[in-house]
Amino acid sequence: MTYQNSEYVQMPVTKGIYDLNVGQPSPQMLPLDLLYSTDRNHITDPTFLQYANQQGYLTFRKELAKFLSSETGDQIAANELLVTPGNSGAINLIGTRIAASSPTRPLALVETPTYQWAVNVLEGCGFDIMPIPVDKEGIDVVEVERLIIEEQVKPALVFVIPSHQNPTSVNLSAPRRQKLIQLAVTHDFYILADEAYQLLSFPENKVHSALASEDYTEKGVVFTIGTFSKIFAPAIRLGWLQAKPDLIEWMVNHPVLVSGGGVNQVMAGWIEPILSNGSMQKWLSDLRKELFQRYECLYKAVQQKLPLLEIVTTPQGGYFIWCKLPNQMDSSALAALALEKYKVSFRPGTKCNTSPDYLRLCFAYHTTDEIEKAVDLLALAYNEFADNLILK
Ligand SMILES: Cc1ncc(COP(=O)(O)O)c(C=O)c1O
Repeated sequence: MTYQNSEYVQMPVTKGIYDLNVGQPSPQMLPLDLLYSTDRNHITDPTFLQYANQQGYLTFRKELAKFLSSETGDQIAANELLVTPGNSGAINLIGTRIAASSPTRPLALVETPTYQWAVNVLEGCGFDIMPIPVDKEGIDVVEVERLIIEEQVKPALVFVIPSHQNPTSVNLSAPRRQKLIQLAVTHDFYILADEAYQLLSFPENKVHSALASEDYTEKGVVFTIGTFSKIFAPAIRLGWLQAKPDLIEWMVNHPVLVSGGGVNQVMAGWIEPILSNGSMQKWLSDLRKELFQRYECLYKAVQQKLPLLEIVTTPQGGYFIWCKLPNQMDSSALAALALEKYKVSFRPGTKCNTSPDYLRLCFAYHTTDEIEKAVDLLALAYNEFADNLILK
C-alpha cells in the first residue's frame, strides 16, 4: 500500500489511508535509482561551489533548452531561460519583482478554480487578488477584457495554468492564448504562466507550447515557469523560467539573486547528465504512460461507481480529475465523513479557490489497484452522505 511518513516528507500519508487529495508523485514514481546511477564526477572545477551564475550556468541551460525544445516542439534558446528553485519560488521571484516596480498596490487576476497556494504566494508578494472564471477553454478572457474596459480594473499580472490546469485539467485554447497576450500588450500587464503539468500530456496527446514561445512582443509580456517537481522529483527544487531575454535579464537582476547568486547550482549539476544522456526523456515518457493508466483507472471507476458525480472535464494529461457533486452538496462535509469513516480523502472545491460542490481527485499518487479500492470506499461514503441528506 502506498504511503509516506518518513522524516523527509512535507505531508505524511498514513498507511491505510487512500489519498486522492495529495497532488504529489507516489513514492514508486520517484527516481532514486536514476539519481544514484548517474555519474556525479563530471564537475571537477571547485568554482562550481562558488556563489553561482545568477541565470544558471550556461551548459545546464543549453541542455535544458534542448530538452524543452524536443518535448514541446518550440525553439527555445539558452538565453531565454533562467534556473529557478521550482515554480513556488519562481512565482515569488517574479511576483516580488513586479510588485516592487508597481507605483500602487498591484492587482493579480487569477483563475477560479486554481492552485490555491500560488494565490497565497502572490498575496505574500503584496498583490490584491481578483478571481476570473475558468471554463472548458481556460480562463475567461472576455471577462478579463470587460473588467479592464468597463470597470477600469488595472491588473499588473494575470496568473494562469495553461496546460492540464490544477485542478480542472483544462487547457487554455489557442484563440484565448492569443487574446490574453494581446490584452497584456494593450493594457500593460504581465502574464505569469505556471506550467507545472505542461510536459505531462498523456502519450497520445500533444504537449502544448509554452505561452512564452507565443509571446510576439520584443521585450516580452509572458513569464512561463516550469518545474521538475511533477515530472521528476519535488525535493530537487529545480525549475526554469522561460521568457524573452529582456525579461530574463530583469529577473537575473532580482535583488535576491544579486545577493545570493543563482539558485540550486549543485542540483542543476546533478541533473545535467540526466538531461544530456537522454534518461530524463525516457523517464518522462514512461511516467506519461503510467499516469495515463492511473487516469483511465480512476476515470472508469468514478463513472461506474459514482454515477451521480459529474466529471466536469476530460483530462488530456496532468494529475487530476475535476468533479461536481449534485444538488449543491458540500464536498468539505463529505470529505470529513469519507476520511473519518472510510479512510479515503480528496480535495474539496473550497481548497481550490471555488465553491464547495466541486472536488478534485488526484490519480498520480496511488497504484491502479489502490485507486479501485479508493473509489469503492468513496462510493460508500457518498451513498451514506447522500442518504443522510435525504433523511434530514
Ligand atoms: C499549478 C502548480 N504550480 C506550482 C506547484 C508547485 O511547484 P513547485 O514544486 O515547482 O514549487 C504546484 C504543485 O502542486 C502546482 O500544482
